[in-house]
Amino acid sequence: MTDKERLLKLRIDLHQHNVNYYINDNPTLSDHDFDQLLKELEGLEVKYPECYDVNSPTVRVGGGVTKSFPTVQHRYPMLSLSNSYSLEEIQEWISRVQKLEPEASFVCELKYDGVAIGIRYVNGALTQAVTRGDGTQGDEITNNVRTIKSIPLQLTGNVPPDFEIRGEIVLPHVAFNRLNEKRREDDLPLFANPRNCASGSLKLQDSKEVALRGLDAYLYYVLPEGTLSRHHSGAIAAAGALGFKVPLVKNRFISTCKGIDDIMSFINYWDEERKKLPFDIDGIVIKVDSYEAQQDLGYTAKSPRWATAYKFKTERVSTLLNHVTFQVGRTGAITPVANLESVWLGGTTVKRASLHNADQIDLLDLHLGDAVYVEKGGEIIPKIVGVDQSKREASAIKVDFIQNCPDCNSVLHRNDGEVQHYCLNAAGCSTQISGRIEHYISRKAMDISGMGQETVQLFVREGLVHHPADLYKLRYEHLINLDGFKEKSVFNILSGIAASTKVPFDRVLYALGIRHVGATVAKKLAKHFRSIEALSLASLEEISNVDTIGRVIAAQIIDFFEDAENSRMISQLKLSGITFDLRSEEPLALESVITGSKIVVSGIFSRFSRNELKDIIEKYGGVNVSSISGKTTYVIAGEGMGPSKLEKASSLGVPILSEQAFLELIGL
Ligand code: IVH
Repeated sequence: MTDKERLLKLRIDLHQHNVNYYINDNPTLSDHDFDQLLKELEGLEVKYPECYDVNSPTVRVGGGVTKSFPTVQHRYPMLSLSNSYSLEEIQEWISRVQKLEPEASFVCELKYDGVAIGIRYVNGALTQAVTRGDGTQGDEITNNVRTIKSIPLQLTGNVPPDFEIRGEIVLPHVAFNRLNEKRREDDLPLFANPRNCASGSLKLQDSKEVALRGLDAYLYYVLPEGTLSRHHSGAIAAAGALGFKVPLVKNRFISTCKGIDDIMSFINYWDEERKKLPFDIDGIVIKVDSYEAQQDLGYTAKSPRWATAYKFKTERVSTLLNHVTFQVGRTGAITPVANLESVWLGGTTVKRASLHNADQIDLLDLHLGDAVYVEKGGEIIPKIVGVDQSKREASAIKVDFIQNCPDCNSVLHRNDGEVQHYCLNAAGCSTQISGRIEHYISRKAMDISGMGQETVQLFVREGLVHHPADLYKLRYEHLINLDGFKEKSVFNILSGIAASTKVPFDRVLYALGIRHVGATVAKKLAKHFRSIEALSLASLEEISNVDTIGRVIAAQIIDFFEDAENSRMISQLKLSGITFDLRSEEPLALESVITGSKIVVSGIFSRFSRNELKDIIEKYGGVNVSSISGKTTYVIAGEGMGPSKLEKASSLGVPILSEQAFLELIGL
């Protein structure tokens, strides 16, 4: 077999393994073996760039950056569904349908609570994915959708030449909780629910980030009608056979129903069982099965007459608000928490609910002792959605947001345009002090073992540590006399602290606890600026231009370095031997003719892959940028570079180099 034949075979095999794993839930290869084959394919694709394919299984990890998502026209309008919360209305709808189509049979399905998507396949290849938008036109998010592993990129077998399949992109609970957990660690605002999070994820510019979000998709509508079958149920089954993730009869995600009794039993079954599903649904969709009958029933302006939705009532209970407490985070952010009279909701006892911020409290017009309504959606923390004003006593006291920090009593501050209150007494507020040290020693930061939250709080209380740099001043005699400390635990702590001087720069940067600088942002900053000096001297512009960092994070970084207390801490950490640059780890960029140049790489190349060229640019002191602007120094153009990019470069007078010309320029 030649290399190229091997490459094509690997693609077909990996597509099939993907279907087995993500659609059929029946893996035919271990994860390790799959990764080996994927690596082999990646290698061959680098070697044979002429075999490039947008739908190769290697695109699952993402890579493309979309700056703005073009608006495109839907080929078939994307309508909505009529819906109701009452079973009587469902009964009426069925009677109306049966009057016109006495023989009609129905299909019941789950109503997925996600983001609607229409995906077009031409000759079996995924060519375009578009959001619902206003129903006539939506946003093209093809690159991002290609990273969702349960969406096939290339179909095989007897495939209709050109069709669209629609469905819903959902974020399963595990992925949602993991993501919010990480955001909490990074001090970023949490996503309210999986749907919002799915929707936000699909609009990320960097498809690599999208790939990490763990999105999934269920497909439920093939267009034009009649493409795969004369019945909707048949079309769904046929789409499943083509490798799409469709609702399965065996899971009871879809069921053909003759009349009201079958439909009611499907609804009742899922009203209970939905609590066990790994993703959110918000109701049941009922459709007329035969396309011919669908045609006869037709459409209103907004929705088909051949389908309707029954929406589940979100479980909501009423309980009493006892009091509101305010928590201080390590960055000084204040979070109000409602303490409730215990109540049973969605399988657990609820005692507390998040109130988010001052605006939320005002919006609810919350008073102590109020009878409040509590709901639990996809989110872990229940929320208060309303107040029964009629039950409020005239003497009830309004809940006011606190003016002073519950820990250190300093006056709280709220920036214009922001919702969060902050305690600015970073140096003197003990909750913040402990919080920062806890963050500093955490696993993803300096990973200092032998110490936990309680130890940190004890050290702070005893006045032994005030900020992370103090950890390196701790000595045996300081600790051995503390309550409960033995030789062994003291030794573990001291050796853990000593070992942390070996932690690489990006993790040190993360450990400093700069607001909004999570592990990923810290990596980007470390790679770009290479030393704490360079970062501390960088301007807002320079920082916000790095990858996808943006101005909000950049402003926080500037603030951090402007604070004298932080500069002092960094100087002390340096004296203790903490790693504050990359120089010792990675070779410095060479001085060359392209030092400081901003270079765009586009298209496919023959000697090097795009990523290799980017590495070469960085090695020779250039900066790889993703889009062409007046500030671009060169564009390196490969095969298949889009004409619009070429046009833009020449209209801005940016020199366009071939791969060969670029390599000659730097003397390679
Ligand atoms: S069929 C013409 N089936 O619900 C209507 N929609 O509220 C075709 N949805 O826009 C849609 N699960 O995004 C259909 N099993 C399902 C669905 C479903 C969720 C969404 C869809 C639609 C919205 C209407």
